[in-house]
Amino acid sequence: MSATTSSCATWTIPTKDVLFITLRDGYGFMQVVISGKLAKTYEALTLTRETSMEILGEMRQVPAGARAPLNRELHADFYKIPDHWRAAGGDDAITNRVTADTDRSTLLNLRHLTLRGENASSVLLVRDAVEYAFAQAFRELRIRKVSPPALVQTQVEGGATLFQLGYYGAEAYLTQSSQLYLETCLPSMGDVYCIEKSFRAEKSLTRRHLSEFTHVEAELDFISFDDLLSNIEHMMCRVLEIVMADPAIAGYIKTLNPDFKLPERPFMRMKYADAIDWLREHDIPNEEGQPHTFGDDIAEAAERRMTDEIKKPIFLTHFPAEIKAFYMQKDRDDPRVTESVDCLMPGVGEIVGGSMRIDDNDQLMAAFKREGLDPSNYYWYTDQRKYGSSPHGGWGLGLERFLAWLCNQHTVRDCCLYPRFMGRCAP
Ligand code: 4AD
Repeated sequence: MSATTSSCATWTIPTKDVLFITLRDGYGFMQVVISGKLAKTYEALTLTRETSMEILGEMRQVPAGARAPLNRELHADFYKIPDHWRAAGGDDAITNRVTADTDRSTLLNLRHLTLRGENASSVLLVRDAVEYAFAQAFRELRIRKVSPPALVQTQVEGGATLFQLGYYGAEAYLTQSSQLYLETCLPSMGDVYCIEKSFRAEKSLTRRHLSEFTHVEAELDFISFDDLLSNIEHMMCRVLEIVMADPAIAGYIKTLNPDFKLPERPFMRMKYADAIDWLREHDIPNEEGQPHTFGDDIAEAAERRMTDEIKKPIFLTHFPAEIKAFYMQKDRDDPRVTESVDCLMPGVGEIVGGSMRIDDNDQLMAAFKREGLDPSNYYWYTDQRKYGSSPHGGWGLGLERFLAWLCNQHTVRDCCLYPRFMGRCAP
């Protein structure tokens, strides 16, 4: 005899004298067989989806030819459903609240219920595994975890996407990236990483922009630009390897994304200038509908067409300084461009952004001036160049974008628990 308690009856199929129930508890599924008199009680006949139950019974192998999770089923001798465990039925039944026709906005209002679906919960279980794998892969490289603040008084990625708030009478922001703080850890802690929330007041509704996203960021000391690219490639591939080595997680990924294959290494490398030529050759216009020219931002649509055509990860490198953040190191051989990289993935586009950082104080001051930023607010950042500077660089990966690619999700909104984007801050 074995007893089991489980949170939810997800399915009931009454046949003549037998009721089959699928139980789930977040760790797996189990088929339960309720037969004889037990199947004919009022409770059994009015059982509603999502009801919680406690069942006592005997675990048996499923009969030849039949199928059930893990090839076993629980034959109930007894079950208990306290009144308050019973899920609502009738018009209020969960199947009437979330249907195949429910529009996307209502689905988001009901995210707490859609999370109970297999698709949504599988993506989040993969997410859990991916976060854990990042921690493992960083640890393997002796890269240490730190936790920078979310409330800050400096910008990193441009003023246009800052969330501003009052802070005891002063002005503060929600951080756009923890990068500058990670840089301050290098001299005493060695290479560091964090997995923290970043916030961007994005003014457009796209399938890959969130107002709050999870940012995996690393900062590495005494490296070259090549080392930086190798580290990004290693980390992405190692994380995928760890995740795919877990049969349960690999199973979710195969269900969500049947065509998934580990990316081939090395990733393709393409300089920004060559990408501009490629876009011109392929008649892919810029945002004004004109042929791309050197200095143009490569917008989301053009980026996606590139990845759709090339169909593999691309390291797009050496962007012009004017279209990138103030802290990026210029290329020694071509000062028009920076030692910067975006990693583009098929179906999603940019997943990682990174660069070498300016390590010379005078150059950094010139960059602040160019961007119209007051360097005095950044004294804690510029001091790094005053007390033992070093060639260093780092990267940031958007966890939801990585998941959208890995789990073949149309939008990053389906890769977070409760997405935040323009116009949505609930539930
Ligand atoms: O390219 P970004 O802006 O780079 C930085 O923030 C650097 N300071 C990171 C670093 O070097 N430590 O952002 C990095 C990544 C993007 O490639 C994207 O995956 C993700 O963060 N990202 C967003 N994801 C969802 N919604 C948004 N609004 C995002 N903005 C950036």
